[in-house]
Amino acid sequence: MGSIVSVQGVTKTYASGHQALHSVDLAIQEGEILALLGPNGAGKTTLISIICGIVNASSGSVTVAGYDIVKQFREARRLIGIVPQELTTNSFETVWDDVSFSRGLHGCKPDPALIERILKDLSLWDKKDATIMTLSGGMKRRLLIAKALSYQPRILFLDEPTAGVDVTLRKGMWETVSRLRDEGVTIILTTHYIEEAEEMADRVGVISQGRILLVEDKQVLMQKLGEKSLSIILHEPVEALPESLAHYQLERTDNGRILTYRYDGNAERTGITRLLGDVAAAGLRLKDLQTSQSSLEEIFVNLVSEAS
Ligand SMILES: Nc1ncnc2c1ncn2[C@@H]1O[C@H](COP(=O)(O)OP(=O)(O)O)[C@@H](O)[C@H]1O
Ligand SMILES: [Mg+2]
Repeated sequence: MGSIVSVQGVTKTYASGHQALHSVDLAIQEGEILALLGPNGAGKTTLISIICGIVNASSGSVTVAGYDIVKQFREARRLIGIVPQELTTNSFETVWDDVSFSRGLHGCKPDPALIERILKDLSLWDKKDATIMTLSGGMKRRLLIAKALSYQPRILFLDEPTAGVDVTLRKGMWETVSRLRDEGVTIILTTHYIEEAEEMADRVGVISQGRILLVEDKQVLMQKLGEKSLSIILHEPVEALPESLAHYQLERTDNGRILTYRYDGNAERTGITRLLGDVAAAGLRLKDLQTSQSSLEEIFVNLVSEAS
């Protein structure tokens, strides 16, 4: 699978003088679901707006399926569906008409069966004759998704697709998105919900303060999730670790009062039993033990705070 979207050295400084992106490089693989995970203000909306050609970069370049987003805007834009973060839809039109119109607007022939399937998938079928202004916030968000799907884009951008959507509907949307991926659509979504990235993405890109801190396979991140630590709290602090414990690579904290051992929680042998035996044999007295597991949340929080 080659990359379908290529972002090279993209920076963005808004007219206010605020620099929202610092030399971002990103390669999006055809057919994947990439989640851009980052706190508010990280630059997620700015980045996808630049990729879609809605906002101009201050420097750098973006190609979509080989087309330059600025110089070949029309060719590139035809391949892209975007579901914006802000809900701007508010009209007297019906859901059915609005979605059908969106398909026509993008130069596609009418396809009522497709529109029906999209509305059913997004639990909007029973609202097809309702006017948009009567919809709830969650329904409006799903309507925006339906509109973007109506013209069958190859690449779909979802900017915070489930913000303000309740948990049950959120699951339904996740299912819709993975079905689209199965149909070959490349999906880029932004989120500040770690759970959402964990649930949906093939790869996760962490973005903070205008910089991409990492882009990694979710499976790899999940392995990091499997890392556990055991903290041994001692009665008396140790100045230096006895030679017999050297190979455990313990971390000394709290002036030598706490020794922390890291191990793979998924492994057959964790080494804990032997460690505790060796600690006792070295004459160290245990006061307490604590285990903890690093979560994606922790990894994320550490990354973001290191960057600031
Ligand atoms: N039109 C704009 N003019 C000036 N600053 C902006 C504009 N849009 C966004 N910003 C600023 O750029 C930064 C990134 O914003 P944004 O891309 O919306 O982040 P995110 O989507 O991750 O929350 C923020 O500090 C935001 O205040
Ligand atoms: Mg945003």
